[in-house]
Amino acid sequence: MKIVVISGSPHRSGTSAVLVDALIRGVLESGHQVTRFDAAFHRIQPCQACHACQQNGGVCVQRDDMDALHQSLLEAGAVVLASPIYYNDICGQLKTVIDRFYAKEQELKTPKRAALLLAFGDDSSDAVKGVLYNFRAMLGFFGWTLADTDIVAAYGCNSAEDVRKTDFPQDAYEVGRRMGMA
Ligand SMILES: Cc1cc2nc3c(=O)[nH]c(=O)nc-3n(C[C@H](O)[C@H](O)[C@H](O)COP(=O)(O)O)c2cc1C
Repeated sequence: MKIVVISGSPHRSGTSAVLVDALIRGVLESGHQVTRFDAAFHRIQPCQACHACQQNGGVCVQRDDMDALHQSLLEAGAVVLASPIYYNDICGQLKTVIDRFYAKEQELKTPKRAALLLAFGDDSSDAVKGVLYNFRAMLGFFGWTLADTDIVAAYGCNSAEDVRKTDFPQDAYEVGRRMGMA
């Protein structure tokens, strides 16, 4: 199975990256293919809401790195979304990518497994209740499945150093190991 991992963090070696690296290790060990997309280091323009894609068969008017990501998403059986929490929400880099799903919305409405990795400093996972509510709604719209066991909410983690002292990287690894399974 092909698995796409989209991370929003602008820290190449930050908290989210520790989780993403662990998840990818699990995916590769279970024999699946990974396409990793670190949105902060790609050229992704915000959706212009011109709706042209809805009239022309799903082609965005903007030419940027979303072209390649759309192709990977269409081929993927599973999608992992990773983000630091900024002001109780996901970071803008990841949200910008998600909004650009719009062009391929109809084609992306096909069953896929989803997983979510969140990194943040707050001392409880209660801080991401709103984010989880929004993700469940968004993923449900696409018909993608997000099991509770495929969510890693790494609370109390303001840095890569913090998260390495927790079990969250192991949790992410295990999500990766399970990703290819039905
Ligand atoms: C602009 C900004 C806003 C943040 N807002 C929150 C927040 O609302 N709640 C929280 O727990 N941590 C917040 N943080 C802390 C980050 O979520 C935390 O440092 C995280 O580990 C960064 O992950 P990264 O290294 O993968 O980017 C914020 C950080 C920044 C830069």
